[in-house]
Amino acid sequence: MIVIVLLIFCVGVLSSLFIFQFEQNLMLRSCFSMMAVVVFLSACSEPKQAVGVSNAENVSPELPISLSDPKALLGSQLFFDTNLSKQRNQSCGTCHDIANAFVDKRQDALLGAVSLGSDGHSMGGRNTPTAGYAAFSPAFYRMSNGEYRGGQFLDGRASGLAQQAEGPFLNPLEMALPDGASVVERVKENPRYVDLFNTLYGQDILEDAQTGYAAITNAIATFEKTALFMPFDSKYDRALRGEAKLTPQEELGKPCFSLSNLLIVTHVINSVRHHSMPKKRSRIMSIVI
Ligand code: HEC
Repeated sequence: MIVIVLLIFCVGVLSSLFIFQFEQNLMLRSCFSMMAVVVFLSACSEPKQAVGVSNAENVSPELPISLSDPKALLGSQLFFDTNLSKQRNQSCGTCHDIANAFVDKRQDALLGAVSLGSDGHSMGGRNTPTAGYAAFSPAFYRMSNGEYRGGQFLDGRASGLAQQAEGPFLNPLEMALPDGASVVERVKENPRYVDLFNTLYGQDILEDAQTGYAAITNAIATFEKTALFMPFDSKYDRALRGEAKLTPQEELGKPCFSLSNLLIVTHVINSVRHHSMPKKRSRIMSIVI
């Protein structure tokens, strides 16, 4: 693969020189030079095979879950319930604001660089990432080259959305409840919740702290797998569906945009989570060739 890519790289460079000498056509020259750079970068980010499972196999196939799914509906209520924090003033949705692409728009901690906790003075150590498209993160795994991919949180320490949701309730810098049992007790304060959990997860599921907490995080994870969290409504997504037309400049930038090592752009989430690496690679190659 590397050999082929390097070969194409050389052809790109040579063609660029050729055109430079004989055509003096600025447009074509820059096009070919860019192709050469793109292929070179593409070679640098050679797709890496995971140990054991492939990236594509790690991503859940059943997304998105319907918004009318009863567990998702229950999860939506929990996601926005401020009673589930120490001072009854903060929900998941406080930091992952649904009106703001599920990031924190508050400016009250280090000018918005981090998030303020339920206690009103604790500050998290990291900027709140979007909870959108998080369902597409594959399970945490190690690549054959030793790099790690996937998982939830910036360091991948939670293996899925349900495990991730266990964290914020108990994080003293966030919702700050002492343990899972306390979260379950707060949920049980609301008789409507108790009825719904009994119906959807089994009678008296909340009577045991462990099974109760697992059901709570499962409901939240189900909500995070609905289309609300994955609208795919950027111009890029619409262009992929044929509903919008990219400008010539945007078309020119598309190969770079698709490269995993150049994804520090606003659409990072859509690209990384929507398309598996091998697909991206073949698209780049077909553009180049
Ligand atoms: C006080 C603000 C705050 C609250 C409240 C909060 N989060 Fe977060 N969330 C964060 C921060 C900060 C991170 C990144 C932490 C890290 O990477 O170590 C994060 C990470 C995440 C991620 C991982 C995203 C990714 O791509 O890795 C998900 C999903 C998420 N939160 C969902 C939730 C849910 C569900 C709740 C409620 C149970 C919640 N959050 C409550 C601030 C918050």
